[in-house]
Amino acid sequence: MRQYICDNWQFMPEFDEKMLTAEKISDAKEVKIPHSVVDMPYNCFDESIYQMVSGYRRILNVDEKYKGKVILLTFDAVAHHADVYLNGEHIGAHNTGYTAFSIDISDKVRFGEDNVLTVKADSRESLNTPPFGFVIDYMTYGGIYRDVYLDIRQKEYIADIYVHPEVTFDGSLIKAAAVSDITLSDPAVARRDDIVIRQTLTDRKTGENRVLGEVSAKAGNSVSFDAGDIELWSPDEPYMYDLKTELVLSGEVCDTVITGTAFRRMRFNKDGFYLNGKKFWIRGLDRHQCYPYVGYAMPKSMQVMDVKVLKYELGLNAVRTSHYPNSHYFLDACDEMGLLVFTEIPGWQHIGNDEWKEQAVTNVREMILQYRNHPSIILWGVRINESQDDDEFYTRTNTVAHELDPYRQTGGVRYLKKSSLLEDVYTFNDFTHDGTAPGCQHKKDVTPDMEKGYLISEYGGHMYPTKAYDDEEHRLEHALRHARVLNAVAGEEGIAGSFGWVMADYNTHRDFGSGDRICYHGVLDMYRNPKQAAFVYSSCQDETPVLEVSSSMDIGEHPGGNNGKIYIYTNAESVRMYKNGKLLKEYTRNDSEFKNLKSGPIRVDDFVGNAVHESGLYSDKQADLVKYGLNANNVYGMNNLPLKAKLAFLKATVMYHMSFSDMADAYGKFIGDWGGEATVYKFEAIKNGKVVKTLIKGIMESVHLSAVADHTLLKEDHTYDVAAIRLQAHDQNENIVSYFQEPVEIVTEGPIEIIGPEITVLRGGMGGTYVRTTGKDCEIEVVPEGLNKLLIRAK
Ligand code: GAL
Repeated sequence: MRQYICDNWQFMPEFDEKMLTAEKISDAKEVKIPHSVVDMPYNCFDESIYQMVSGYRRILNVDEKYKGKVILLTFDAVAHHADVYLNGEHIGAHNTGYTAFSIDISDKVRFGEDNVLTVKADSRESLNTPPFGFVIDYMTYGGIYRDVYLDIRQKEYIADIYVHPEVTFDGSLIKAAAVSDITLSDPAVARRDDIVIRQTLTDRKTGENRVLGEVSAKAGNSVSFDAGDIELWSPDEPYMYDLKTELVLSGEVCDTVITGTAFRRMRFNKDGFYLNGKKFWIRGLDRHQCYPYVGYAMPKSMQVMDVKVLKYELGLNAVRTSHYPNSHYFLDACDEMGLLVFTEIPGWQHIGNDEWKEQAVTNVREMILQYRNHPSIILWGVRINESQDDDEFYTRTNTVAHELDPYRQTGGVRYLKKSSLLEDVYTFNDFTHDGTAPGCQHKKDVTPDMEKGYLISEYGGHMYPTKAYDDEEHRLEHALRHARVLNAVAGEEGIAGSFGWVMADYNTHRDFGSGDRICYHGVLDMYRNPKQAAFVYSSCQDETPVLEVSSSMDIGEHPGGNNGKIYIYTNAESVRMYKNGKLLKEYTRNDSEFKNLKSGPIRVDDFVGNAVHESGLYSDKQADLVKYGLNANNVYGMNNLPLKAKLAFLKATVMYHMSFSDMADAYGKFIGDWGGEATVYKFEAIKNGKVVKTLIKGIMESVHLSAVADHTLLKEDHTYDVAAIRLQAHDQNENIVSYFQEPVEIVTEGPIEIIGPEITVLRGGMGGTYVRTTGKDCEIEVVPEGLNKLLIRAK
């Protein structure tokens, strides 16, 4: 039985010895877990503000009736060193902030009485543990930021279970076995005659239960049962099962563990990644687990939201949890929704002394023991991200990983070429593409071993930081760089896929970012609003129609006053573009220059359509020339015409005696429209002959505030719930108004609290806020009141 103890904690930013006792402390603050040691602004703050030795205290009363049972106290994560005390006695400690730890308090706790549970939490970056020791490109925050709970077990219990189902293919026949390695709390118990392990498999979708069988625990700690007919798991069909394992002693069930599991086969081979026997292209982004204002401290709903964003909004099939294991809520959602995960030990470029390395090896052990049941995990990262070679150290991390999980391969992220490859897969940060250089390097130029798997673990990022409020051409180039890398990777032999840097913008240390402690590397902003680059990814999926255009169609946004390059992002079969109701052109997927992508961005090259030809002013040949010249002028402007366009103008002058003013007139007539009727462009995305999405780009006439909550029914489960509200300024056609950067006052009614400031601003026409429950479930309604006010009503 599990009891969460996330409420009723007291917190002091500076640890006080009084916290070891029940003595009243007037300035201690009542808090709930997940908790951040400090509330932070959006940006422009120093990393020193969360570095402290703080104190948490809670009265713990364990019912008399549990006397004689095993009471395990677990902290899912404390950043970054925890000392735990019960009634003033030091009962345990844990290093590093990204894995869980448990303490058996059965012999320490006074049953039926008030016990004082205290945690001294050290979030100083001077700790001699990963990721600390040198610079780090992300903030590390502080606090008890994941759940705390008690597990109450019988004396004989299942201390650990590793479920690793086996799948074999015999032609079209799939044979599946549920295989588990089980460790009992007391090895002596396993030797008894009357002890049996029973397993039942439940299909999560249908609810159907299948008793797999019973086996004497004496048979050893590996248990295997034929699983019968099963459905395979993949990102397209993430078919999950629950395996119930019961420990039966003299006919009585004395412990039950339910493990979510799935049947799938996966392998990185030299020519790519194989899932269930078929080659599978990994398309993912890296993710940091941080949020504005509270850093790491967000409950389940926000972890799940990120998976939804990655999977459904961005259409990805994979994520790398850079640079540390993420919350189990995140991983559970990856299992459930079908997102492949590359997870890795904490660390960033720096390798410390022996003690530090010992801790890193412990981190490998903890990561694998705690996460290996997640079917979505495809690879363990067992090197410190982007560190130098250290064969002795990395032989140890690889050995531990292979011992604890012989069924998964290892990788280790590096920026080094031909570095010492002790892992199974060469995972390389390929930042080659700088706008002009190729999208990626060839596998043979990077790995020292062509026989092993190869994966790109990062690209993009610092090569082109992009703010939501950068000018349009910058935001477009950011998107195109992502498209170029994806396109290049897809065209390479032997690359299993890639992860782009990074899902969302993140707060960072002084050595990185744009001077305001933000790395603007995200395809999303910090609130998870999309920048243009996001549409490159969302266009790769087929579920939801995507139709976006890179430009607001305002010529004044571009140097020289022309339209500049314009791209369509879509997953439709074709897109029709109209100007003032007249069809200019229907673009198809073949029009994309990104030939290796199923739905790459498509360049708009016609703003004229048939208008020139139909005008009756020119012969057909002359009209061809005029149309070509006008389109070129529209993109590049007269001063920057490419040679081919200059020649066209020359031809028009020589052959058709057109003067500059004739051309200028034609421009005004067919493209310019200054002072005339406002130009409205309409785009229609077509699939199976039907219009699936329409987009209208015209002059902005009015702006309104759009506010969308990720979920509106907030539930206090074992702690508070949080809803994310994404704010955007939209014009009358629901296009984001990129340069609307105004304040929005957030007002609440009912049992709800704002996380962060009550007045926020839109940046690049986008922003957000978060609200949390205050002790009870509620339903929220988000009501924009004009442009500068958002009412959040909770009932
Ligand atoms: C990589 C690093 C990431 C991030 C990225 C920025 O070198 O692994 O953590 O800093 O650069 O592009």
